[in-house]
Amino acid sequence: MSLLGLFLVVFLVVHLGVNLLLLSSDPDLFNSASHFMATNPLVQVMQYVLALGFILHIILGIILTLQNNSARPKGYVKSNSALNSSLESRTMIYTGLLILLFLIIHLLNFFFVIKFGEVPTGGDYVLVTEFFGIWYYTLLYVIAFILLGLHLNHGFQSAFQSIGLNNKTWTPVWKLLGTIYSVTIAGGFSLVALYHFFV
Ligand code: HEM
Repeated sequence: MSLLGLFLVVFLVVHLGVNLLLLSSDPDLFNSASHFMATNPLVQVMQYVLALGFILHIILGIILTLQNNSARPKGYVKSNSALNSSLESRTMIYTGLLILLFLIIHLLNFFFVIKFGEVPTGGDYVLVTEFFGIWYYTLLYVIAFILLGLHLNHGFQSAFQSIGLNNKTWTPVWKLLGTIYSVTIAGGFSLVALYHFFV
């Protein structure tokens, strides 16, 4: 589960990198990158690996939650979970399922339109920038990016902990890197959406 999570962490960096080209005033930059991603054979193979990575990560997450719940179905008599764990860690399954919902909507909005539908004149750049001109889509996406940030903030450090790289020295480092990473991802994607809504 941790290794799959870290694989998805890398995907998000690449995806954000391509999407930041949408901030350029030259539409050709994003259109060329998007065309490359849609046609390069290696990327095509990686898309199947990515889909499998997402599916396995989600299935393992659900199994883990069910196992945790059945290990203690009644709950503790006296428990102060707010003191023992962060809100992010206790809501991983909920933020995860909401991100899954977002992902389905997102693939319908862009991936399936580019692959099987009709892209407007001006290419993928116009498809995306016109999309973010609609306020409720921008709002929905920014809410999803915030949830993604919360999920990643806990997930990042938790992955290193599960691998066994947790001790007094390294745990604070993973926590700090996790915070920097999740703020960059959530902030970066939100910037793209909000930029095209306001500008
Ligand atoms: C501003 C934010 C985002 C924009 C503008 C955006 C745009 C796009 C576009 C245009 C595609 C289709 C690419 C193609 O087929 O050529 C795509 C695909 C995809 N997006 Fe996003 N995306 C954003 C955020 C996200 C986030 C946060 C996630 C994950 C949680 C995500 C996951 C995916 C996946 C899994 C695919 C299909 C694989 C691929 O084509 O690379 N996207 N996105």
